[in-house]
Amino acid sequence: MSAFLQRKTTLCFALSVLALASLSAAAQSAPATLSGFQATASLTGLTHTASGIELSNAVSTLKIDAMRPDVLRVRIYPNGHPAEDASWAVLPEARTSRIAVTAEDAGFSTSALRIAVDAELRIVVSDLAGNVLQRDAAPAAWDGTGFKVSKQKTGDDHFFGLGDKPGPLDRAGESFVMWNTDSFGWQESTDPIYKSIPFFLEMHGGRSIGVLFDNTFRTYFDFGHERADRYTFSAPDGPLDYYLLYGPEPKRVIETYAWLTGPTPLPPLWALGFQQSRYTYIPRTKVEEIASRLRADKIPSDAIYLDIDYQDHNRPFTVDQGSYPDFPGLIHELAAEHLHTVLITDPHIANLPHQGYKAYDTGEAGDHFVKRNGENYVGPVWPGPSVFPDFTRQQTRAWWGTLYKDFVADGVAGFWNDMNEPAVFTYPTKTMPDDVKYRIDEPGFSPRTTTHLEIHNIYGLENSRGTREGLLALQPNVRPFVLTRASYAGGQRYAATWTGDNSSTWNHLRQTTPQLLNLGLSGFSMSGADVGGFAGSPSPELLTRWLVLAAFQPIDRSHAAKGTRDHEPWVDGPEQENIRRRYIEERYRLMPYLYTTAEETSHDGVPILRPLFLEFPHAASDSHPLDQDAPGEFFFGPSILVAASPSPEEVAPYTVVLPSGLWYNYWTGEKLDRRAPLGSRDLEIRDPTVTDTPALQPIMVQPSLGELPLYVRAGSIIPMQPLVQSTEEKPSGPLTLRVFPGDNCHGDLYQDDGKSFDYRKGAYLRLHFTCNVEADGSLTVTIPKREGSFTPWWTAFRIEAVGWTPSATQAVVGGHRSTLEHTTLGWAVTIGDNGKPQTVVLR
Ligand code: GLC
Repeated sequence: MSAFLQRKTTLCFALSVLALASLSAAAQSAPATLSGFQATASLTGLTHTASGIELSNAVSTLKIDAMRPDVLRVRIYPNGHPAEDASWAVLPEARTSRIAVTAEDAGFSTSALRIAVDAELRIVVSDLAGNVLQRDAAPAAWDGTGFKVSKQKTGDDHFFGLGDKPGPLDRAGESFVMWNTDSFGWQESTDPIYKSIPFFLEMHGGRSIGVLFDNTFRTYFDFGHERADRYTFSAPDGPLDYYLLYGPEPKRVIETYAWLTGPTPLPPLWALGFQQSRYTYIPRTKVEEIASRLRADKIPSDAIYLDIDYQDHNRPFTVDQGSYPDFPGLIHELAAEHLHTVLITDPHIANLPHQGYKAYDTGEAGDHFVKRNGENYVGPVWPGPSVFPDFTRQQTRAWWGTLYKDFVADGVAGFWNDMNEPAVFTYPTKTMPDDVKYRIDEPGFSPRTTTHLEIHNIYGLENSRGTREGLLALQPNVRPFVLTRASYAGGQRYAATWTGDNSSTWNHLRQTTPQLLNLGLSGFSMSGADVGGFAGSPSPELLTRWLVLAAFQPIDRSHAAKGTRDHEPWVDGPEQENIRRRYIEERYRLMPYLYTTAEETSHDGVPILRPLFLEFPHAASDSHPLDQDAPGEFFFGPSILVAASPSPEEVAPYTVVLPSGLWYNYWTGEKLDRRAPLGSRDLEIRDPTVTDTPALQPIMVQPSLGELPLYVRAGSIIPMQPLVQSTEEKPSGPLTLRVFPGDNCHGDLYQDDGKSFDYRKGAYLRLHFTCNVEADGSLTVTIPKREGSFTPWWTAFRIEAVGWTPSATQAVVGGHRSTLEHTTLGWAVTIGDNGKPQTVVLR
């Protein structure tokens, strides 16, 4: 008996559930065209559709569609009961995209993938060379409305993503549940916390495939925890609907995920500056004191946050006039200091009928609150008994957006959507009861009533969407800044995020790296963690180390709980403050590079913070992700590798792992040859200026409070700017192009007004610089033709060549010669920028 027939004799599509068995098999619509595929007792239909295949057995139908050659959508449903084809996460244009496929016996192929399905509806996805990318370990198993999908797993499968769930970067061996939860004081082992991002990337032997399991109910993921040879995802209800995104490069999977769910949009420039927050700067004079001190101490900064106590009795969309007299005056005063104000605006609305509370009155008039037993559901949160907008209704989101009108008119720059799991204080689950009702009214969905079980995980998503869309309606040409705590897949379209109520411990500092990396891999490029830790009081050293590391994280926001000691950079005296300031300053010098990276994300979804494997998927000979060997390391943008200690509290030396190649020490300019060991490579091509590392000795770093090792990939050009105290300040001096020579040497720069959408009409500047070390040792830097109509702040370029030695200490531009200047990092020249292409030769 063939293996195939043997498999057929096992229990086909084992359904433990009678509920499904009773569903009408006759209702399945696909005609049985069993060409070349043996009909079995279990298989009742097989149709090759234009974009894939549809197969049925007695109870279920499996539908696989190719949306692109490298993207599949897989759906299984009880016969005759296809789930609603709608999604909160996936963009409609992507969701409905289809390509023509080539039918094969028991499956189909595209120009990238081959899909085979067996008689028990088990799916095997391979590349065209026959490498299996994903194989069902068992047929999808049903239990009532619930189901479980099981895939084979080997010992060297690695899993990334799932948002900010704590724990190691690689999710292998762990299991997780998706249920957005207010998790004050969460720890490394806490699950779930605030977000549900049911997207993961699986890597095996250097080949990657992504999975978005688009089901908003409480879902479960197991990456070999229960059984080492399987990974599974399951849900108690909702659709069995997932997308497969093929690489094979992991970066390609991430780009495809952005195609599917939308990239993180371009933020306003100021959101990349240093942000100072605490729960709460009260009263007004305290806010003014913090602002003045930031400026007096020359801590570059762009934002101050006001937490819930700025509100009258913590009621969203009110102001405590007693503590904050002339609130608009305060906002303007901060703006005059180039500080943007960010206000918290929680989703719960105080339940105050007939008391002149506008947010309640207008919400009630429009019937915008969720219901229980026919009445508004009321639950306690910060303001006391509260009601909750039904953000699944487009008209409710539109109303919500109008609540921002006065604050926007006052000049408030950004908004913070907290507590949107949604958190409720007394109910044992810390959220609303399961039977709270929503009345979905949303394009693409059929109007229907459903319960909190389905909507809970998207409450934060739709809340932040309402905020962003509301702000856009109020100020169509201002890029909004919204920070959300809870979200779902696709939430990056609407808001930046942070990791909630972490703690002031060394372990929490360490945790920020895997959390922010996994958030980036899950679409959320604009993310941060409360710097210094929210719960508890950091020691001076911990606070310093945290401020140092966060200077290289996308959102750099210091925040602290009530009752904790002060967290601002100046606490602990000048010695600590000097270190903290130095790193924040470096972030501001790197702003052109950071902003350019953020702009790249807004196209391709590749996050600002990147694990090593995203840039170097094949760095290890067995293709395991190099991050395993270097848990403190990550890329900040495409060129800078941050090598933080894997155990930041340790005083013992630690090893830095660099992918094979040439590297530069960012701080000293020292060149590090980390290519294959001496002897195994051609001595002729050795560059005499490289540091001699004959046996590739490990790079050992002795940790010191004031130092964070940074390395730059050879072949990078990093754009930098003179120091400013805020992104609102115009830098004075040239744009620096720091050139780190190497193969394929290039660097990008993107600029615009930092605020508006005028870039969509061409008001931007894009430059792609290249450089090359010529045969005679001279260094050529090419400044290309400008793309876009934006006029930048600089009128000159300063070219700094790092780790390169001139023979004549001369620069030649357009026939004009000047003398190179010796700097701590190498050799530099300043040339005018006339807006035209230029070639600069340093020799
Ligand atoms: C929640 C938030 C925290 C905020 C506090 C008060 O705990 O996570 O950041 O400070 O509420 O609004």
